[in-house]
Amino acid sequence: MRTHVVDHPLVHHKLTVLRDERTDSPTFRSLADELVTLLAYEATRDVRVEPVEVTTPVAPVTGVGLATPKPLVVPILRAGLGMLDGMMRLLPTAEVGFLGMVRNEETLEASTYAERLPDDLSGRQCYVLDPMLATGGTLAAAIRFLTDRGADDITCICLLAAPEGCANLEAGVAGLDVPITVVTAALDERLNEKGYIVPGLGDAGDRLYG
Ligand code: PRP
Repeated sequence: MRTHVVDHPLVHHKLTVLRDERTDSPTFRSLADELVTLLAYEATRDVRVEPVEVTTPVAPVTGVGLATPKPLVVPILRAGLGMLDGMMRLLPTAEVGFLGMVRNEETLEASTYAERLPDDLSGRQCYVLDPMLATGGTLAAAIRFLTDRGADDITCICLLAAPEGCANLEAGVAGLDVPITVVTAALDERLNEKGYIVPGLGDAGDRLYG
C-alpha cells in the first residue's frame, strides 16, 4: 500500500479552515468540495487513458481519452457523499457506486448497511471517497468489497488519516494482489481513546450534514 500526503499550500490552507471548530456547515461543505478536487488531481495521476485522434482547426493530432472500462467512484455513505461532486468535477464520465458503512462508536467496528455497486468490477480502477481514515476498519472493509468483485486498482481519497489507521489498513489489505493507494491532505498525530483523529477536524459526517 502506498500513502501519498499531498503537500501544497492551498491544500494546507483549506484543511486548516476545515479543522477550525468555528467553521459552519455550509462553509465546511464548500471547502471540502474544493479540497477534494485538489486531492483528486493528485489521485488521478495514474488514471488509465487510451489514444484518441482529433483534428484541430489546423491539423490532426493524437491525444488521450479515459480508457474503458471507465473508472468507478465509490463514496462511502454518509460522509463520503460530501466528496462526490469535487471528485466528479475531474472525472465527469466515471461511473458511481455506493457503499453505506457505519462505525460502531463503542467497538469501532465498521458494518455495511447499503450497497449499490456493479456486480463485475474486473479490470476497473476504483476511487473510494471517505473523509476520515481513523482506525482503518471502514476502508479495509470497502476495499474487500471491491476486490471481491474483481477491482484491480484502488485509490482511496481521504481528507485526513491517522498513522494507526494507515498501519491497520496496510495489514488488512496485505494479502491482496491489487495496488492500493491512499491519497490524503494530512497524516495527523494519532487516534484518541474514542477513535477520533487528533487533532483532526471532529466528526466529518456531522460537520457536513449536522
Ligand atoms: C466515519 C468516517 C469514516 C469512518 C472512519 O464515518 O466518515 O467513514 O468513520 O472510521 P474508521 O477508519 O475507524 O473505520 P461514520 O461511521 O461516523 O459514519 P458517517 O459517515 O455516516 O458519519
